[in-house]
Amino acid sequence: MPHLAVNDVRAKYGSLEVLKGITFSIEKGEIAALVGPSGSGKSTVLRALMGLTPITGGAVDIAGETMNYSSAKEVRAARDRMAVVFQQYNLFQNMTVMQNLTLAPLKIKKWDKSEVMSEARRLLGLVGLSDKAEAYSDQLSGGQQQRVALARALALKPQILLLDEVTSALDPELVNEVLDAIRKLADEGMTMVIVSHEMAFVREVADKVVFMDAGQIIEAGTPAELFDTPKTDRARDFFSKILRH
Ligand SMILES: Nc1ncnc2c1ncn2[C@@H]1O[C@H](COP(=O)(O)OP(=O)(O)OP(=O)(O)O)[C@@H](O)[C@H]1O
Ligand SMILES: [Mg+2]
Repeated sequence: MPHLAVNDVRAKYGSLEVLKGITFSIEKGEIAALVGPSGSGKSTVLRALMGLTPITGGAVDIAGETMNYSSAKEVRAARDRMAVVFQQYNLFQNMTVMQNLTLAPLKIKKWDKSEVMSEARRLLGLVGLSDKAEAYSDQLSGGQQQRVALARALALKPQILLLDEVTSALDPELVNEVLDAIRKLADEGMTMVIVSHEMAFVREVADKVVFMDAGQIIEAGTPAELFDTPKTDRARDFFSKILRH
């Protein structure tokens, strides 16, 4: 049974249909990378999974359970299972790193404090920021802040992590430290859906590449299949342009 199965998902902004039947699935511990031109609907897929953009058709199954997003309770059920990190990480600026990581687990989830604190410390170690626990988030570099955002998402213990271009607002020298943190998560077996323009990274970590254009999946397969031997002209054209950089 797939860990995440997206079946013919549709979404609209007003009368504009931006997802026209998106279907893909991944097994536990796998990473799917959504790639495609600007405006093709990649972010909307992640927003729809989180119940941030209403789904107008199709279904999302997590570990065989259908999320139907039809009530606040159902949306919460989906958000209990998934966490998303966007390009704009929006840390709480007047709080320390540790407070950023523990606020929701303590105040919203009401989990045990000593467990929350020790998990937060473990996650800071995972993203390489153990020495920054008491720093205020505005005292950190962009790459460090983005790693805090990753750890903060993980502190909610998602089964599936969604990452939307988490490195694209960063200076080039900071990109690798964030990619390293994602590599470690992959090694830990986290199921992930990532949107990324870092094609070398996608090739390295993704089990499946899903190429989208204009709200549809044009082609999906392994990184080697899509990058080296694309079947469609549209994918060939896109990858020949993007892989030259
Ligand atoms: N809030 C919104 N209201 C109306 N239309 C929107 C909204 N957000 C996105 N769209 C439209 O939905 C389509 C898909 O957008 P989306 O942000 O999912 O694309 P994307 O593939 O993530 O692009 P990019 O690579 O630029 O981030 C685009 O045509 C976009 O203009
Ligand atoms: Mg986007």
